[in-house]
Amino acid sequence: MKNTDLSGISTFGPSTMIVVSNRLPVDATENEDGSISWGLAPGGLVTALEPFMRENASTWVGWAGISDLVLAPFERDGVKLVSVTLSENDVELFYEGFSNDTLWPLYHDVIEAPSYHRAWWEVYRSVNQKFADVVAAEAAEGATVWVHDYQLQLVPQMLRELRPDLTIGFFLHIPFPAYGLFSQLPWRRQIIEGLLGADLVGFQRAQDVDNFLRIVRRIMAYKVIGGHVTVPSRGEENRYVVARNFPISISYPDIQKLIKDPAVIARSREIRESIGNPKIMILGADRLDYTKGFLHRLKAYDELLSDGDLDPTEVVMVMVASPSRERVDSYIKLRDDVELAVGRINGQYGELGHYPVVYLHHNYPREEMMALFLAADVMLVTPLRDGMNLVAKEFVAARSDGDGVLVLSEFAGAFDELKAAVAVNPHDIDDLKKQILRAKDMAPAERRQRMLSMRRRVREHDVEKWSRDFLKALAHTNRVS
Ligand code: F6P
Repeated sequence: MKNTDLSGISTFGPSTMIVVSNRLPVDATENEDGSISWGLAPGGLVTALEPFMRENASTWVGWAGISDLVLAPFERDGVKLVSVTLSENDVELFYEGFSNDTLWPLYHDVIEAPSYHRAWWEVYRSVNQKFADVVAAEAAEGATVWVHDYQLQLVPQMLRELRPDLTIGFFLHIPFPAYGLFSQLPWRRQIIEGLLGADLVGFQRAQDVDNFLRIVRRIMAYKVIGGHVTVPSRGEENRYVVARNFPISISYPDIQKLIKDPAVIARSREIRESIGNPKIMILGADRLDYTKGFLHRLKAYDELLSDGDLDPTEVVMVMVASPSRERVDSYIKLRDDVELAVGRINGQYGELGHYPVVYLHHNYPREEMMALFLAADVMLVTPLRDGMNLVAKEFVAARSDGDGVLVLSEFAGAFDELKAAVAVNPHDIDDLKKQILRAKDMAPAERRQRMLSMRRRVREHDVEKWSRDFLKALAHTNRVS
């Protein structure tokens, strides 16, 4: 077991506000010499929660990203971080297995086939218990606990058993599937019971709430009226659980600050120069995940080049694919498939010093991402299924020049709000091709009008409003039940 202390043991006492997510905002990686380096944890969840945590001196409970790392609680930006230690077996069976090879594909409409293994389920349960035990020990009497995402769906119920005094909220960052899919899960009842341990269960989209409530009715046979579920309790009063949608967002002020930085502006020019100042720069920026639609996008682009609708000397598609879940088979295969497709396109249409696809399998700091957003003419956010997709909202927030065209999948949660984007069905290659061309050829006045209306939406519904709305609803559920 590695034992590392970041900046001294915290002097905070029990906390009245605790956030629990699989990952802490800091991500540890082990260097070859055994030392530990720290970076920002991957994914939209941490990006979304960070501003909230900064404002509300709270405690964040999560995993630091590598196995067997034992950390004393520490402080970062005024937030107490409490790490949950996961063994190598936990990482394999709970994180890579049940979370990312069972729940992730099942909740994303079975784009890849989910694996159902009883041994994975047992470890999912024991790791959820581990998280619940840590939170129970950290929480002050009557504290509010906000549990996040599919990795921790049993925590609300486990916590309620340990600490009935707590107010418990749960928010799911990914889609909640329809009954026909969810009912495949051998542990479907236990998952629903776990979630119903919360006072408030939040989802991204209204359709996720509908799916959840239908499942509660069919699997548990509980009474559901509006968004209220009556949970019968033996010998005690019934409990009431509220289910509602709260579309997550980004920190609008943080992004405005970043894009005004002269270094970011200069970098955006440098990026265009570095790719040969093309007439059109198309951008994609996603975790390398099969839900994101990489192969569909590459197929459409390949066909546009071969049909002669795009001129390979005039266009560059920059494809940022941040490394993700690299030991899970479906992710290993996806990386191979993407790299093969990129190689084919560049081999076919590239020339010395000019390639139509710039593929970057890296994580970049936020400043670099902003510079990329500013440099792009067309942003492709074309997931096959996505809870929300914060990249779409970040792109919009970054374009204070009112320019740039967002092509957005109908299957991303963000689509409910960003109606002025160019809508696309990414499963339909012809539609993808058509919408890419439409975005490329859009007149400046229309680009501006669409961007301004999307910017207004994101400005007025940013992450600060999201967390405020959720916590207000949580406090309210507790009062009325
Ligand atoms: O919401 C999607 C999510 O799984 C988050 O929970 C997580 O922060 C992000 O994607 C990145 O995934 P991972 O933690 O597996 O690297």
